[in-house]
Amino acid sequence: MNTAPRPLLDRFGRVHTDLRVSLTDRCNLRCTYCMPAEGLDWLPRAQALGDDEVVRLVRIAVGRLGIASVRLTGGEPLLRRGLPELVGRIAALGPEVSLTTNGIGLARTAVALRAAGLERVNVSLDTLRPERFARITRRDRIADVFAGLAAARAAGLGPVKVNAVPVRGVNEDEISELAAFAVEHGYRMRFIESMPLDAQGAWDRSAMVTAAEVLERLGERFDLLPVGRRGNAPAEEWRVAGTDAVIGVIASVTRPFCGGCDRVRLTADGQLRNCLFATAESDLRALLRGGADDDRIEAAWRASVAGKGPGHAVNSDDFVRPDRPMSAIGG
Ligand code: 5AD
Ligand code: SF4
Repeated sequence: MNTAPRPLLDRFGRVHTDLRVSLTDRCNLRCTYCMPAEGLDWLPRAQALGDDEVVRLVRIAVGRLGIASVRLTGGEPLLRRGLPELVGRIAALGPEVSLTTNGIGLARTAVALRAAGLERVNVSLDTLRPERFARITRRDRIADVFAGLAAARAAGLGPVKVNAVPVRGVNEDEISELAAFAVEHGYRMRFIESMPLDAQGAWDRSAMVTAAEVLERLGERFDLLPVGRRGNAPAEEWRVAGTDAVIGVIASVTRPFCGGCDRVRLTADGQLRNCLFATAESDLRALLRGGADDDRIEAAWRASVAGKGPGHAVNSDDFVRPDRPMSAIGG
């Protein structure tokens, strides 16, 4: 018989209910703040978890560990073959399922994903200008992203969130234009402070646009009313006065929110990470492929979360970059 899951607790009393699952480390863009122009050494397919393996881990997470929401990420998760079927299998296990994507390919897949049980999408978009988009992502694909956003909204994958990473001298002058675009189209704009998780190791604090600066720029155009941070969500939110529009800022660097973290992450090659910035991983793939039973996998999962630290040290001299870049962890 099914028993109620026992919460996934760490030493600090944080209950983990959100699982980020990276479905591939590949991407069809090459965002400059994420990876080099030539791309990365992609994971050989045999090393990536197959659909049955992903589904088994999610079943354990939901059934035994109390995971209530699953966010599918990458790399670019829409590059995963048979994604609607996989979404359907995950949704059937009961969690809320959402997806973070660069939006390319969404126009083609939004309806099927919604039908399979996907509830929401976050779409990355750092600029509204085609030439600038091509410069930032090294691909001339902004039209696909606009089409993907519209398709997601039409398919009912809302509220559609738009994620932008403002970078000094690159797109910081577009902060309020991006927000106005989102307000106009009924998307929820979110600005994310750039984090030292690029593959090249080129992150530079002085190029990071801080949450305070984002708010200052937004304040020039909008009258913002604080909504506060809801639950454990990383975004702090503001409502645009006189509208229903909400704008969020994710200040991972200048205002870390580790104290409320409820997230665990599974990489495309089956490594469990208790933090985006973790320097250690638990090899669930080895357990899966070594014939471990569910009890053993559950125990490894709990041990990983029990070993979670209080927070990342991006702001300290002791900060050690994780071995993997963001694209190989999952956002
Ligand atoms: N810092 C902050 N955000 C990043 N993203 C990718 N790399 C970084 C980084 N180094 C963003 C993407 C996407 C989300 C998953 O994370 O733009 O919106
Ligand atoms: Fe791809 Fe996302 Fe990295 Fe851009 S930030 S290259 S869309 S994985």
